[in-house]
Amino acid sequence: MPLMDWSDAYQLGLPLMDDTHQEFVALVNKTHDANNADFKVLFTELLTHTQAHFDKENQLMVATKFPALGEHQAEHQRVINELKQFKQRVDKGMISFGRAYIKDRLPEWFALHTKTMDSALAVHLQRVNYSA
Ligand SMILES: [Fe+2]
Repeated sequence: MPLMDWSDAYQLGLPLMDDTHQEFVALVNKTHDANNADFKVLFTELLTHTQAHFDKENQLMVATKFPALGEHQAEHQRVINELKQFKQRVDKGMISFGRAYIKDRLPEWFALHTKTMDSALAVHLQRVNYSA
């Protein structure tokens, strides 16, 4: 059974964001299910993917003057810092720390972040008729 199931609760109605979020969920699941050797590689891939995912949202916020830009960008940075800290541990062979982060923290964080900050951004993008 995958760690995270893609559900309608995550769906924002904007392919621009939903496609990246689906990739994120798939990559979290793949990392969770990986053996220790693959886990290291996939954890790095997850950091790279998440950085690109957040950069894209940050650019959208800047381009459309999203009012809650500061708060949302700060939350992205907080998560990137966390991922980097755990990557350092994983790189040193402390795989169990990375596994605990993936299992116990990321699914809960993603559910809350999508439901609050990302859904507010999606509503804003629709309101300003943003098209990629
Ligand atoms: Fe976000």
